[in-house]
Amino acid sequence: MFSSTHLLPLLFFPLANAQQPSVDLSWHAPNTTWINTLSSVINGTGTHGFIFNSSELPQGTKYGTYNWCNMPHVRQEEYPVADKQYELSYVEVIHRHHKRTPYASNTFPKESYPWYCSDEGLFYYGQPLNPEGNSSASAYWSVYTTNTNPFAPAGFNGTCQFPQITREGLDDSWQHGKDLYGVYHDMLRFLPDQLGEMVTYRVTNNVITSQVAGMLIEGMYQTPVTVPLRTQPPSVDSLEPAYTCSAASNLFSSYGVGSSSSAWTAHLTAAKPLYATLDSISGVSATSSDWHQSFDHYFDNLSARQCHNKPLPCAISNSSNCVTQEEADAVYRLGQYEYSFIYRDSSSSLQASVGSYGVWIAELAQTIRDRISGASPVIYKHNVAHDGSVSRLLSILQVDIMVWPGMGSEVVFELYQKKGAGSKRFVRILWGGQVLRSSNPTLGKVDMLDVEVLLAYFDGLVGVGASKVIAYC
Ligand SMILES: *[C@@H]1O[C@H](CO)[C@@H](O)[C@H](O)[C@H]1NC(C)=O
Ligand SMILES: *[C@@H]1O[C@H](CO)[C@@H](O)[C@H](O)[C@H]1NC(C)=O
Ligand SMILES: *[C@@H]1O[C@H](CO)[C@@H](O)[C@H](O)[C@H]1NC(C)=O
Ligand SMILES: *[C@@H]1O[C@H](CO)[C@@H](O)[C@H](O)[C@H]1NC(C)=O
Ligand SMILES: *[C@@H]1O[C@H](CO)[C@@H](O)[C@H](O)[C@H]1NC(C)=O
Ligand SMILES: *[C@@H]1O[C@H](CO)[C@@H](O)[C@H](O)[C@H]1NC(C)=O
Ligand SMILES: *[C@@H]1O[C@H](CO)[C@@H](O)[C@H](O)[C@H]1NC(C)=O
Repeated sequence: MFSSTHLLPLLFFPLANAQQPSVDLSWHAPNTTWINTLSSVINGTGTHGFIFNSSELPQGTKYGTYNWCNMPHVRQEEYPVADKQYELSYVEVIHRHHKRTPYASNTFPKESYPWYCSDEGLFYYGQPLNPEGNSSASAYWSVYTTNTNPFAPAGFNGTCQFPQITREGLDDSWQHGKDLYGVYHDMLRFLPDQLGEMVTYRVTNNVITSQVAGMLIEGMYQTPVTVPLRTQPPSVDSLEPAYTCSAASNLFSSYGVGSSSSAWTAHLTAAKPLYATLDSISGVSATSSDWHQSFDHYFDNLSARQCHNKPLPCAISNSSNCVTQEEADAVYRLGQYEYSFIYRDSSSSLQASVGSYGVWIAELAQTIRDRISGASPVIYKHNVAHDGSVSRLLSILQVDIMVWPGMGSEVVFELYQKKGAGSKRFVRILWGGQVLRSSNPTLGKVDMLDVEVLLAYFDGLVGVGASKVIAYC
């Protein structure tokens, strides 16, 4: 299985093996399914059981089903408990934020109905710390417009920020925290009873991840203490990711969104009639490249409504000319196809993701090493991120079936020690709460893989300290 010898400096492996495992660093195609088969996407119907219209699954639908509004995650009912001889020693969670209003850029020039968010507050304030001083009032934003302000907001009227996590998205975030705590605290007795230096949370510079984190932490710890949300400066943030890697951006646009290669444009060409219908209803100009170089905007625009039980949109000039469910389903199929193509089907996807997400991978590898060496007390690290974060990670892990990571999409890295195995450690990766399967034979089904193999795979792609990312970008 391991093809070539890949020696790495011993310095970074203080604990054991003199010989580092050799790993296959090449790209391997994902499984062939309806998602990456153009004829099924264009000429197919429905959404193959994928859900786009509620955080709750319809009666009789199995948890674990793809639900764009609220993706499956680790929870007690379905958690695959490891064999007794394995003892958990570190957990790192990364997931996409929960459901939200659309981004302003994904709203139609004029929307046919308003969207209200007065059922929640977005709390923004600063308060003295170290040393503590006077405390702050719990102040929150309340969005409003006046008749005197002659400018109408773009997109929806109402009382929301576009974007913000919605009331239901906040509830989903709280439940997500409660479910994780149910496994890692209540069931496995791994998490401490109190927050402290062993548990850390990280967010991106986009405030919606903080809106999720606050609810999620409360779902876990129900604590009155203040909690730091670790965040990196926007110019270098590896979690979002927001650092600059022109080589990766150029590579993505050479084959994906914005590319004129026929491998990319085939689905856009085949979907011309659908685009014409959607444009006539939305009022989006047929020449707007933002809306026509990928289905991203229509996908977000329609799914955000349906996740919140809002009707599909109608034309401003003709309220009986509306987007149909069949058209929305076609957009949802096309969105899956695009994410699979950009992050897995294109053979360039691995390099593009390594460039744009390699820094986070290097940080993960270092955190695992620090935990093994005892240099860090952190046993649980929790990252709240975006679809662009989770899709790049799945791309690097070469997941066997790629989808567009929906709201709350979760990947968990679990590090174990094994009785009688000395200092050897093992890693398991969970995607949507179940063991992840990679198309790369070095990783395969990532279930108690020798951690040195995973670390050698990461090092081989991104370099220790992300040295290969710097060289590439
Ligand atoms: C992908 O294909 C492999 C090999 O045929 C198979 O073992 C695996 O179960 C497939 N993955 C899924 C999610 O069906
Ligand atoms: C969809 O079906 C039509 C009519 O059968 C066919 O002409 C077209 O090539 C099909 N599109 C794709 C992408 O397979
Ligand atoms: C959501 O869509 C499914 C089909 O995918 C349908 O069975 C269900 O009734 C819909 N639920 C709501 C709340 O519209
Ligand atoms: C959908 O797009 C329209 C047109 O740009 C916009 O007005 C509307 O706010 C969008 N809705 C969502 C949910 O993105
Ligand atoms: C939005 O507000 C503008 C001006 O305040 C008004 O003209 C328009 O009808 C409103 N649109 C909706 C959908 O309520
Ligand atoms: C509150 O602020 C005032 C004015 O700066 C200061 O005199 C006082 O010591 C502060 N109280 C605390 C508890 O820090
Ligand atoms: C409004 O849309 C409906 C449905 O597409 C269509 O049948 C009708 O002719 C349209 N009315 C006008 C005035 O364009």
